[in-house]
Amino acid sequence: MSFVDVVKEDDPTNNVPDTIYSKIGLQLHRRDNHPLGILKNTIYDYFDKSFPGQFVKFDDLCPLVSTKQNFDDVLVPADHVSRSYNDTYYVDSQTVLRCHTSAHQAELLREGHRHFLVIGDVYRRDSIDSTHYPVFHQMEGFRVFSPDDWSGSGMDGTAYAATDLKKTLEGLATHLFGAVEMRWVDTYFPFTNPSFELEIYFQGDWLEVLGCGVTEQEILKSNGRTDHVAWAFGLGLERLAMVLFDIPDIRLFWSNDQRFTSQFSKGKLGVKFKPFSKFPPCYKDMSFWINDEFTENNLCEVVRGIAGDLVEEVKLIDNFTNKKGMTSHCYRIAYRSMERSLTDEEINDMQWNVREEVKSKLRVELR
Ligand code: PHE
Repeated sequence: MSFVDVVKEDDPTNNVPDTIYSKIGLQLHRRDNHPLGILKNTIYDYFDKSFPGQFVKFDDLCPLVSTKQNFDDVLVPADHVSRSYNDTYYVDSQTVLRCHTSAHQAELLREGHRHFLVIGDVYRRDSIDSTHYPVFHQMEGFRVFSPDDWSGSGMDGTAYAATDLKKTLEGLATHLFGAVEMRWVDTYFPFTNPSFELEIYFQGDWLEVLGCGVTEQEILKSNGRTDHVAWAFGLGLERLAMVLFDIPDIRLFWSNDQRFTSQFSKGKLGVKFKPFSKFPPCYKDMSFWINDEFTENNLCEVVRGIAGDLVEEVKLIDNFTNKKGMTSHCYRIAYRSMERSLTDEEINDMQWNVREEVKSKLRVELR
């Protein structure tokens, strides 16, 4: 099994390290003075204004969900990568830390809701860089239509929902970013068809804002809405907040440093973050012969387990296979604190521990 090296020794179906457990319940999205809370409230304002009294909001649903909720209920295929222990945190074989807020679609439909927003922390095993962190926050939106809604429109239900979806989300993007250029890109999600991504042209780049689409009929049928159609969208709050507030590194969202937290206040979207100081990074390279079970996500878990938020990036800088068929990887680890200068001694200690654990837990051969 590819996850065997990073799971809790006493339970082979659990791959959640303490660094991740310690994030559960922090609920950054419920802090009104935090960039994520400010962004959440701004999106609420848009839906309250556009659909007065219609959208019910859930920002306190438990992130521990069943594999049925996270995958089966939203039609994620049995062999989809997101189900692997390499990509998702399993608490046991039947329970995961949700990897998307779509995990709540089915239960909320069954409870009878027709318009809802779900905001919460989501968890994904991933590589380490300035825009990826194993815990981040998503907002899910869902709207159900009944035949009465589209009957006079001259469109079928799917076309009607897709039109409404695009109009609604273009309005949201304008609400957040002002008059920006936008484009729709066709994509695939297991739970919607057709599926789209919305991109906006912002500060010289096309930025992916969200994924969305017209909900698969099967989801509606299984959850008490036969003959209805619906749309759904999901957006990542950090990605947008980094752009809107000029926040250069995703780890900053977790900072309790006053110099970060004091810069944001309720209702003020888009106040630009002023870096309090830029501390120098320190780079350490590490080469080893990989084995069949090696994955970059497992490596990153080991590094984060030791260095926590002091690791800024883990990057493959060299990679070759020798005549005997052995493959070598060289990774460059960047250590940098957002808050202070690191000493040589503590960096060397961390790197030494990383090397030891990489050797013992991932069973690779250091070079
Ligand atoms: N759940 C998707 C994701 O995490 C986003 C999404 C939500 C797409 C709803 C379509 C509809 O990437």
